[in-house]
Amino acid sequence: MTGWIRVLPFASLLTSVVTAQAPLSIPNGLPSWAYNIPDKVQPPSVPVTGPVRVPGSNKEYDAAKIAGNATPPDWFPGEHISAPPIVTGEGGGTTMACGSCHLMSGQGHPESADLAGLPVEYLVRQMNYFKTGARKDDARMGPIAKATSDEDIRKSAEYFAALTPIPFVKVIETSMPPKTYVATAGRHRVLSPQGGTEPIGHRIIQTPVDPQRTADRDPHSGYLAYVPPGSIANGEALVKTGGNGKTIQCVICHGDQLKGLGEVPRIAGLQPVYIARQLINMQNGSSAGTNAALMKKAVANLSEDDIISISAYLGSLPPR
Ligand code: HEC
Ligand code: HEC
Repeated sequence: MTGWIRVLPFASLLTSVVTAQAPLSIPNGLPSWAYNIPDKVQPPSVPVTGPVRVPGSNKEYDAAKIAGNATPPDWFPGEHISAPPIVTGEGGGTTMACGSCHLMSGQGHPESADLAGLPVEYLVRQMNYFKTGARKDDARMGPIAKATSDEDIRKSAEYFAALTPIPFVKVIETSMPPKTYVATAGRHRVLSPQGGTEPIGHRIIQTPVDPQRTADRDPHSGYLAYVPPGSIANGEALVKTGGNGKTIQCVICHGDQLKGLGEVPRIAGLQPVYIARQLINMQNGSSAGTNAALMKKAVANLSEDDIISISAYLGSLPPR
């Protein structure tokens, strides 16, 4: 083998492209339902191809373009202010346009986050937390934030802050939700093809009202969130009274109607699985920037059931 020089594939190592398929894992034994990790065994599915439309829009996009993250579909351009290139992906330069995962409406999916109408400074701060690793999301927002300039961070924050959220989730109490699994494509929790129901246990089961429209990134098609019976009332008591010193009344910082106060974000009408994941992360220190330290005391003594209840109650409130 003398004289034989192996050429290493440097080119592929050097492209610091953020991929949508980075490995996902659940931090240290935390509850998997809050993290939308795809099930190991996937039922067979037939991917949609060709032109796609959604109700009420006169736009048409190719299924492959919708499925990617580079240039998200903008089904209802008349419903939002004009968006900067970092959000739309127009003009190239990004493979991870914010409008793909967070939708052009900003309301996103439970595995991402609802950004609509949140304070500019709050959004900028989160991006900086992701950049420094103070807030952890190694598969998605960490690399995305690192690849985004300060100027683009501010422009995207100004865009999402200017959006008005619509009610997007219906919270339903039941001990027997439909059987579901988390699909690899889009990490969406969808109905099991065998049908049937299963005990809810200590979980929030959030599924699209219409999985195809959700997969098509249709911002008019929202979610159902199944929660254990009694969750909403328990959550309301914790949020409003602090549950006999278990936590701090959320209204003190998040505003009377939990729709935000100054730089403290709205928590009313966010998606329950996202709220739960954030509270769990804050409790476990993987979402701990300087400002998030204010939340530390609020989450320190919450049990998993408390977190489920609070998330159910907040998710059931109108976002505006
Ligand atoms: C590939 C999908 C994807 C793309 C593209 C994406 N995000 Fe995210 N984003 C996520 C996920 C997943 C989370 C939730 C992280 C967590 O659970 O903490 C998130 C969370 C966030 C949060 C925290 C929200 C909150 O309420 O605290 C902000 C802010 C954010 N993203 C901004 C952006 C911006 C700005 C862009 C474009 C530069 C962007 N994202 C692009 C997936 C994405
Ligand atoms: C002492 C003030 C304070 C109290 C009390 C408080 N919060 Fe917060 N909360 C904050 C601040 C500040 C942030 C933003 C942190 C940051 O900038 O990262 C926040 C962020 C959050 C977030 C993240 C929102 C998002 O979009 O990711 C959630 C969820 C939340 N709080 C829920 C609650 C709940 C539920 C309660 C009551 C049990 C509560 N908070 C009580 C100050 C408070």
